[in-house]
Amino acid sequence: MMLQPAELSLAEMGELAQFIPAADPEVKLTYRAIPEFGESPRRSIIPVCEPTLGGNEMKYVQHAIESNWISSAGQYIRDFETRFAEVCGVQYGIACANGTVAMHLAMATLGLEPGDEVIIPTFTMIATANAVTYCGARPVLVDMEPTYWQMDLNQLADKITPRTKAIVPVHIYGHPVDMDPLMALAEEHGLTVIEDAAEAHGAEYKGRRTGGLGHAAGFSFYGNKIITTGEGGMITTQDRTLAKLAWNLRDHAFSHERHFWHKFVGFNYRMTNLQAAVGLAQVEQLDGFVAARRRNALEYTCRLHGIPGIRTPAEAPWAKNVYWMYGILVDEKEYGMDRDALRRVLADHGVETRTFFIPMHCQPVYWKQFLGERYPVAETLCQRGFYLPSASSLTVAEIEYIAAVIRQHQR
Ligand SMILES: Cc1ncc(COP(=O)(O)O)c(C=O)c1O
Repeated sequence: MMLQPAELSLAEMGELAQFIPAADPEVKLTYRAIPEFGESPRRSIIPVCEPTLGGNEMKYVQHAIESNWISSAGQYIRDFETRFAEVCGVQYGIACANGTVAMHLAMATLGLEPGDEVIIPTFTMIATANAVTYCGARPVLVDMEPTYWQMDLNQLADKITPRTKAIVPVHIYGHPVDMDPLMALAEEHGLTVIEDAAEAHGAEYKGRRTGGLGHAAGFSFYGNKIITTGEGGMITTQDRTLAKLAWNLRDHAFSHERHFWHKFVGFNYRMTNLQAAVGLAQVEQLDGFVAARRRNALEYTCRLHGIPGIRTPAEAPWAKNVYWMYGILVDEKEYGMDRDALRRVLADHGVETRTFFIPMHCQPVYWKQFLGERYPVAETLCQRGFYLPSASSLTVAEIEYIAAVIRQHQR
């Protein structure tokens, strides 16, 4: 474990600044009524995301408490695992403490060794790369394709070496990766595919749900995800051997032969029954959340369509995008201000936004590992992209307001 933070030198910061912004702009979120736009429909800040807890959450949590099962055994864990696996079209679900450890646990079942390689997209949240690193293996990066902002499959074959063990497609912002060619390539080379589906609950590829497209998948149920347990995660898989190993490793690798007898270095990555109670109530509402997000995305796209310099997200013909986050790209020349200036304008109007991910090859902690590697599409996404409020509970009136602010500030 590195105890010193990985700081970039001034020269390295200078180098980095040539291809991604050196720092996030200071965006101070304030809300006041602005005469030209009237009141924001919410009359307060519109958050970039928030959970929707309108179903059986309270009832199930109360029941878990009343039954005295609040730890990591209990019926809600099993029910949530079964129900979520069903939603993904697979047989097994392994509930975990969060999405990061779901990805780590899935990779741990592969028995990765130092020097092994796992191919991931550079444009992702850092947990994807860290899960590989925790196993002592090496993340190998590919760029994104510019249309749907997903892993560029054309770059995959060139990255496969005799040390490659797995490929991790990440369904970025809720849009599924084109899985058929990816699976064909993986099969040709005998590689395992672990979907990072942290952001893609309910998304579909050619009618099949994410989480059931690779050999295994990891989901996150963090508070900003489409369904949430506060903190939480799940592995989904059709592979019984993998599932049994993951359940065992999740729980300190307790042996069935004898108590306190361990044959593997396991983990405590368990979810609590209380979290699973919330999860079960959330998964019951998944179809409604997905429908709301797809409707909201359409509302945004219709209203932002045709604004010079604003690129809205595209949906591939094979995809049912669930728009975990509704992201846009800003072309400074055409729009008349850059991404950061537009974020400040929105913040002045009480609209919270978030910049796109910073690619893995630009991260201080991975800088030396990927020294000299460049991934131009990911860098452009990082420079120009940000996402707008995207919660399932967002209203059409709020979208109208946000789109009006963006439209009226184009110069
Ligand atoms: C692509 C991706 N992978 C993994 C994770 C990690 O999930 P968690 O925050 O639950 O650990 C996230 C979280 O946002 C994510 O976006």
